[in-house]
Amino acid sequence: MSTTTVPTARIFSSDNVAGASPEIIEATARAAGGQAKPYGADDITGDVRRKLCEVFECDVDVLLVSTGSAANALSLAALTPPWGSVLCHRDSHINNDECGAPEFYTAGAKLVPLGGDDAKIDPDELRAAVRHKAGDVHSVEPSVVSVTQATETGAVYSLDELHTLGPVAKEAGLRLHMDGARFAGAVAALGCSPAELTWRAGVDLLSFGATKNGTMTADAIVVFDRSRTAELAFRAKRAGQLSAKTRFHAAQLDAYLTDDLWLRNATHANAMAARLQEGLKTITEVGLLGAAEANILFCRLPRQTVDGLLSDGYGFYHDRWEPGVVRFVTSFATTEQDVDDLLHAVRRHTV
Ligand SMILES: Cc1ncc(COP(=O)(O)O)c(C=O)c1O
Repeated sequence: MSTTTVPTARIFSSDNVAGASPEIIEATARAAGGQAKPYGADDITGDVRRKLCEVFECDVDVLLVSTGSAANALSLAALTPPWGSVLCHRDSHINNDECGAPEFYTAGAKLVPLGGDDAKIDPDELRAAVRHKAGDVHSVEPSVVSVTQATETGAVYSLDELHTLGPVAKEAGLRLHMDGARFAGAVAALGCSPAELTWRAGVDLLSFGATKNGTMTADAIVVFDRSRTAELAFRAKRAGQLSAKTRFHAAQLDAYLTDDLWLRNATHANAMAARLQEGLKTITEVGLLGAAEANILFCRLPRQTVDGLLSDGYGFYHDRWEPGVVRFVTSFATTEQDVDDLLHAVRRHTV
C-alpha cells in the first residue's frame, strides 16, 4: 500500500501537531509498572499537586483532564449558574472552537463576546459588560470573566493588563477564569511569576494547558478558589473526565513540571516564532500582523506565496480571517532548521 507522508516539520498549523517530550514518554512508561490507587488517589497525582503548589506559591487543588476544552467547560460550569453569563473575547476559543461545550456544561449560561485588540478583552468594554442588566431577571446575570493567556492571536496580556481586568471582575462580584492552553508560553514571554499572572490578579480557576507544549493527553484545572473543588470533582466524574488510571495523566504532568521542562519547552517554542518573525520582516512582500509574543504568528502573504507553500507540502491555516492572512504556529519540537526552511520557501515563492 502506498502512503504519502508530509514531513511533520512542515506543518505549522498548530502546536498540536507536535508529539511529546521524551521525558514525558519515559515518565509514562515508568508509571506503567506495578499497581496504583485509581481515580486520582495515586502517589504521582499527589506529587503533581505538590509541584503546582510550589509553582503557584500557594495551596491549590488540581484536577487532571484529557483536553483543554474539558478544562475550560468544567471550570466555567463551576463558576456560573445556568442563568449566568460568561464575558469573553469574541475571538476566544471558548466562543468559537468548543462546539458549545461551555454552554452545555454550564447548563445554558450565555457567552457574551467582547471586543479588544489582539484577542485581549478591552477594559472599557468589560467595565460596561459586568454591570449590564445585573440583577435583572429578564436577562442573564454577569457571572464570570474568561481571559485567554496567551491569546488566540499569540499576544500576551501584560501583568498590568491582567491586574486591571481582574479587579473589574472582582469588584462587580464576578469570578475570573483563565484559559491557559498556552499558559507556559505566556510565563516564558513575560518572565514573571505564575502567581502574579493568576491568583494575585484574581484568577479563581486556571485551565493549565500542557498538551500543546509537551504532554500527550494531559491538561489540568488548577483551583485557586478551593471552595470550587468539590463541585469540580463531581462535574469531572459526570463528564467522564475522571480517569481510572489517572496515574498516566499525572506521570505526564509530573515530568512536565520537573526541572522546568514546561518553561524550557515554551521558551523554545516562543524563540522559534521570534526567529520566524525576524526572518519574515526581511521580506518586503510579507506583512506581519501584530507581534508574535508567544508561539503564534499572523501575517499577510501574497497569493502566489500561499499557493507555493501549499504545493511544497507546508501546512498552515490561511484565508480564514481575510484573504491572504496566514497563521503559523511553532512548538517545543520546531527546530531552527524547520524555521529556516520555511523562510527559504517563503522567499522562493515570493520574489
Ligand atoms: C486557546 C485554546 N484554548 C483551549 C483549547 C482546547 O484544547 P483541546 O483541543 O485540547 O480541547 C485550544 C486548542 O486549540 C486553544 O487554542
